[in-house]
Amino acid sequence: MKTALLLLHGYPFNHALWDAVVPRIAPGVRVLAPDIPGFGGAPVPPTAPSLETLADGMAELLTREHIGRAVVAGMSMGGYIALALAERHKDRLAGLALVSSQPYKDSAEARDGRRTMIERVRREGPEAAGAAMVGKVFASPDESRPAMTEIVRSGAESAGEDGICWALEAMALRPDRGDVLRTLDVPAQTIHGGRDRIVPIELARTFARWPCDGALTEIATAGHMTPIEDPAAVASGLNELIARCA
Ligand code: MLT
Repeated sequence: MKTALLLLHGYPFNHALWDAVVPRIAPGVRVLAPDIPGFGGAPVPPTAPSLETLADGMAELLTREHIGRAVVAGMSMGGYIALALAERHKDRLAGLALVSSQPYKDSAEARDGRRTMIERVRREGPEAAGAAMVGKVFASPDESRPAMTEIVRSGAESAGEDGICWALEAMALRPDRGDVLRTLDVPAQTIHGGRDRIVPIELARTFARWPCDGALTEIATAGHMTPIEDPAAVASGLNELIARCA
């Protein structure tokens, strides 16, 4: 049976986040990189904002694709969804990768910040969300690499106002899933940029060892956008995890 790898993108992006990672995944692995509902070409769910709904939808996707268990890798928001999937659909998980992500819930300040952003996006449109991210997602604001910033801008635009606001509220409502990571009984890989200004590397170094079979791929020069800033290092971390899951 072929190993399956489910790649879940972050906010406010879409499947294109993984474009430079997918060709570097070990041959013979079946890779799924869907647009998460509300992003790219996928419609916003008709239900109240909830990452659990998205996790359930990803388990249904595996069923539709006749995949029993998959290695699930989520970048940032995708990692929050992967942890919800690990909690609710443990039997579907062969391994877990948190890419530039974390198991913690939002602080009160972070939650307020998301709700302020929802109001701004309702007033000014989705480009406000893209513009807010560009300044902080890369290791350093790098004006000379417009192709990198374009993925942030076009991701926000393709999600649109409703997709952005739904996801912001869903992330604000998520619970702490530290215990999911601490009790994980499949191999896990934390893949993280040493210069991440959204989730500091010091945090990642701590939770990376929580799972009984947890490892850390630290990408010293990358910021939060590891799949864009260093796709080869991200693919290498994923391939290491896939080998441990085989
Ligand atoms: C992401 O990259 O998905 C976001 O930074 C996640 C978040 O806002 O917590």
